[in-house]
Amino acid sequence: MSNVAKLELEGKVYELPIVVGTEGEKAIDVSALRSATGHITSDDGYGNTGSCNSAITFIDGEKGILRYRGIPIEELAEQSTFVEAAYLLIYGHLPNSDEMKRFSDLLTKNENIHEDMKHHFEGFPANAHPMAILSAMINASSCFYPGLMGPANKARFDIHAARLISQVRTIAAFSYRKSHGLPTIYPKRQYKYTANFLHMMFSDIYEDYELKPEVVKALDLIFLLHADHEQNCSTSTVRMVASSQANMFASAAAGVCALWGPLHGGANQAVIEMLGQIHRSGDDGSRFIQAAKDKNSGQRLMGFGHRVYKNYDPRARIIKKACDELLNSMHVTDPLLDIAKRLEEAALKESYFIERKLYPNVDFYSGIIMRAIGIPTEMFTVIFAIGRMPGWIANFKEIMDDPKARIYRPRQVYVGPVGQRYTPIAQRK
Ligand code: CMC
Repeated sequence: MSNVAKLELEGKVYELPIVVGTEGEKAIDVSALRSATGHITSDDGYGNTGSCNSAITFIDGEKGILRYRGIPIEELAEQSTFVEAAYLLIYGHLPNSDEMKRFSDLLTKNENIHEDMKHHFEGFPANAHPMAILSAMINASSCFYPGLMGPANKARFDIHAARLISQVRTIAAFSYRKSHGLPTIYPKRQYKYTANFLHMMFSDIYEDYELKPEVVKALDLIFLLHADHEQNCSTSTVRMVASSQANMFASAAAGVCALWGPLHGGANQAVIEMLGQIHRSGDDGSRFIQAAKDKNSGQRLMGFGHRVYKNYDPRARIIKKACDELLNSMHVTDPLLDIAKRLEEAALKESYFIERKLYPNVDFYSGIIMRAIGIPTEMFTVIFAIGRMPGWIANFKEIMDDPKARIYRPRQVYVGPVGQRYTPIAQRK
C-alpha cells in the first residue's frame, strides 16, 4: 500500500503523507497543504477531520466497537469500576494495587470543596439549570488553587486531576441540594466514589440514605460507560481550550457547556422528556416515529443516531441490559421503559432509520435507570459530565504532554461581503 496520497491541483501533483493508526485507521496528513498549495480543506461539522492523534479511546462506528486504552468496553463494564477506568484513561494502564490505593486516597482526600465555595451557590436562582451551576462552579474552583492559574503544572497534575474528578461530584450534589432547598450533605470518608455521590444527593441530616448495592453498581456503570468517547463535541472543546494553555479547570468548565446541548449530553434529559410526552399523549410511539421522520415536524427521535456509530452503540446494549436488571431487582415498573422498547422495535423496522443507520445510542436507556434511582431529569446531563471528567482530563493531559502541541486554530472559507467601505452614520439609510 502506498504511503502517500496524490493531489492534482492546477496542473501540479502534490504528495500528501498517509498516517495509519494502530487499529488501521487511515488519514491523509494535510498539515502542509496550505503552505504548499494555498488551499485549505473544507469539512463542515468536521465529519472527515482528524483533529489529533490520540492513544486514549478507539471507536469503530461501523462495527459498534468501543475500547478504552485498547480494552473492550464490555470487559470494563463487566469487571471494572468507574474509578479504575478513570485511572486507566488518564494514566494509560490499569493500576496495580498500590497505584489504585494511591489514586483512591487522593480522590478521598480532595473530595470536599473549599468551604468558601459554598457561598457561590447562594447566588444562583432556585430554578437554575444544574449544568450552568456546574460549569460556573468548576471554573470558580480554580480561583481557590492559585497554582492552577498559569499554564499546566506537570508536577501538580495528579492532585489537580484527582481534585477535579472528586469535586465535580461534590459540586453536582450540592447544586441539587441547593435547587431543592435542602441542607448540604458533606461527603463521608468511608464511602467509595459512587456511593458517596448518592449519599450527598439523598441522605438528610437526621438519617443516612440506604445504599443499595444494585443502585450503586448501576450508577457506577453509567459513569464508567460515559468516561470517554474520543473526539466528541465536548472533548474537542476541552482540547481546544487546553491548546491555548488554559488551566485544567477552565478547560473542563468549557467541556461542561459543550456537553449541555440536546444533540450531545443533553440528549439523556431530552429522551425522558420525549418518552413522557409520548406517554401523556396516549401515543403508542407510532405517531412520534412518523413525526421524527418528517423534517418539517422539528422532532427527532432523541437517543437515536450518532455521528460515528452506524451500528448499535455498544454502550446502549450494556445500559439496556442493566436497566432491565435494576428495575427487576427494585421491583419497579416504568411505563417509559415499555415505550422506549416499543419505539426502538418500531424504529428499527422503519426504512427511514434503517437507510440512515440510526440506532439507539447511550442516552436512550440511561435516563430510565436514573429515574429509577430517583435522580431528577434536570440532573441527567450532570451525571454524564461527572462520568466524562476522566476522559476530558486524559485528553487535557495528552495535549499537556505533547512537546509538539500547537494552539488549535481552524481556518475558514470566507463567504461574506467584499469591497465594502465605511459609511458615516448620518449617511446610512
Ligand atoms: N431522529 C430522526 N432523524 C435523524 C435522527 C434522529 N434522532 N438523527 C439523525 N437523523 C437523520 C437526519 O435528519 C439526517 O437525515 P437526512 O440525511 O435525510 O438529512 C440523517 O439522519 C443524518 O443525520 P445528521 O444530523 O446529519 O447526523 P449527525 O451525525 O450530524 O448527528 C446526532 C448526529 C447524534 C446529533 C443526531 O443523530 C441526533 O440529533 N440524534 C438525536 C440526539 C441524540 O440522541 N444525541 C446523543 C448522541 S450520543 C451521546 C453523545 O455522545 O452526546
